[in-house]
Amino acid sequence: MNLPYSEPFKIKMVENIYRSTKDQREKWIREASFNLFNLRSEQVYIDLLTDSGTGAMSDKQWASIMTGDESYAGASSYYHLKEAIRELTGFDYFLPTHQGRAAENVLFSVLVKAGDIVPGNSHFDTTKGHIEFRNASAVDCTVDRASDTTSHDPFKGNIDTGKLEKVLKENPADKISCIILTITNNTVGGQPVSMANIKEVSKLSKKYGVRLIIDSARFAENAYFIKTREEGYADKDIRDITREIFSYADGMTMSSKKDAIVNTGGFIGFRDEELFRQASTYNIIFEGFITYGGMSGRDMNALAQGLYEGTEFPYLESRIKQVAYLGQKMKEYGIPVLEPFGGHAIFIDAKRFVPDFPKEEFPAQTLALEFYIEGGIRGAEIGALMADRDPFTRANRYPALEMVRLALPRRVYSNNHMDYVAAVVRNVFEKRNEIRKGFKIVWEAPIMRHFTLKLDRV
Ligand code: F0G
Repeated sequence: MNLPYSEPFKIKMVENIYRSTKDQREKWIREASFNLFNLRSEQVYIDLLTDSGTGAMSDKQWASIMTGDESYAGASSYYHLKEAIRELTGFDYFLPTHQGRAAENVLFSVLVKAGDIVPGNSHFDTTKGHIEFRNASAVDCTVDRASDTTSHDPFKGNIDTGKLEKVLKENPADKISCIILTITNNTVGGQPVSMANIKEVSKLSKKYGVRLIIDSARFAENAYFIKTREEGYADKDIRDITREIFSYADGMTMSSKKDAIVNTGGFIGFRDEELFRQASTYNIIFEGFITYGGMSGRDMNALAQGLYEGTEFPYLESRIKQVAYLGQKMKEYGIPVLEPFGGHAIFIDAKRFVPDFPKEEFPAQTLALEFYIEGGIRGAEIGALMADRDPFTRANRYPALEMVRLALPRRVYSNNHMDYVAAVVRNVFEKRNEIRKGFKIVWEAPIMRHFTLKLDRV
């Protein structure tokens, strides 16, 4: 008989976590203005707010921290990182930044002008934020089936090339900053993009003379899905797949806090020396000199090591199968979850969980708060609060998907934790008919409001 997968690592250090009472949590969440971002981490038992920067580094990563080179210019750590990036992506030029959104800030300072259009597949919120902040528009060309949480398509993160070509055809090339392809597609459920789709998008980008930039936060998880789901890739090494993915692009932005399993860091990869030169000036202004950007030498060392570990198949298999383990448990309880299960998170479909709930009272946020009060789990709303207001009309945007995301930190929680999480959600699901009232906004920032807004019960 085949043996099951299991983690290709063991635990060397533990961090205690505190299991609070419901009464404590009711008080704390009220004090936090019903915004899960406002909680102190000690008030959370199992923290599934994000998989970003929350992973556990390995002994080799911690060891590499001790040998970091902190020279201002030309540090050996920079060259270690450059070598790792070249090996995994094929990009000869790169700039380090302090995290993913900083990479967006630097690159978009060159590429995005007021009045521009940036087509892509469900731009992440900071990506959209950086585009809209420059008075440009992000045009979402994701395939329609992505908004059906029950359709079993292996590559629901794809770009609809018909929609993309329409945008490229109807607008002059100098008004289109670039195409942004996000792998995996976080916003629609951590869904992968197929190699075939990447190739087609690349072909269109060349046909219309518009650069293709890959938002690569979860590029290794995307490569795992290509290997396990797309014809012709089963026998390929993950790194051969990542190199092929990037061979179709002109550049990449990276939040290293995800698939590179470090607590902070980011970078931009470039094929073209001229674009690298232009971006270097902004990197120096916003981030730091071009051989450290926003990172210390030790952080660059840990990142180089993390890039290699994050692209090992046994690690990726245990990671993605743990996410599926949680999804499967919830499914067995009848909880409506997005399928296929994503690479980094399980997404609970609030529209199916509480079908008659008014959208103006933020159903996904209401559920996320219920999960916290019930069992101390912190998830994230991916719905109307996060979708923010339209930058021009200022009307609330109600996206097709209204979900609670439970994102799993890498190499952090056990499957016993997953059993606990599923049981908490089951308890809330069993009393779903009692959940009738939601929340109203009492304060919000003009952009990216979900991080800091204050809510109250309706
Ligand atoms: N792109 C994608 C697809 C992301 O998911 C994120 C961050 C970023 C860019 C920005 O990177 O945080 O390093 O500045 N996503 C986190 C999340 C915050 O929880 O999904 P960053």
